[in-house]
Amino acid sequence: MAEELIIPTSTDKKEKYETLLPQIEGLLSNEPDLVANLANVSSALKFGMGFFWVGFYLVKDDELVLGPFQGPIACTRIKKGKGVCGTAWEKGKTILVPDIEQFPGHIACSSDSRSEIVLPGFKNEEVQLVLDVDSDQVNDFDTTDQVYLEKIMKLVESKL
Ligand code: SME
Repeated sequence: MAEELIIPTSTDKKEKYETLLPQIEGLLSNEPDLVANLANVSSALKFGMGFFWVGFYLVKDDELVLGPFQGPIACTRIKKGKGVCGTAWEKGKTILVPDIEQFPGHIACSSDSRSEIVLPGFKNEEVQLVLDVDSDQVNDFDTTDQVYLEKIMKLVESKL
């Protein structure tokens, strides 16, 4: 496994993800420990894509609990159906929020967050965790992010 992330130099979002995807696959390939893998995926996305906040919330009993992340400190517990993360968990679907001020019930862990995308990760058809990516810019996420982050989530799911 490479110990150093090759940071994409392209300004094209798709090309950046294309550079990162095989590296993330490599990072996960020989490591069975979930926390180690979630930590490295968070770091690869944070430093590879330059996102403001990247991290995982894990389903524990009846709530989401903060897991490995990169970025400013964040809320530790989120109830099902609450905020973007709790909604993605409840619906079992990716939620893309172009402007957090337009999402009723958005949970502001940081006042600098402006847009957000949250993806659920499944095992045995049950949501086990969510990946949350935040930007300090409005409208920072689009279907390219959704497509590639869902590919990355598939890699994560293979380790659950
Ligand atoms: N904004 C999220 C909470 C998590 S933080 O952004 C890290 C939400 O509404 O669920």
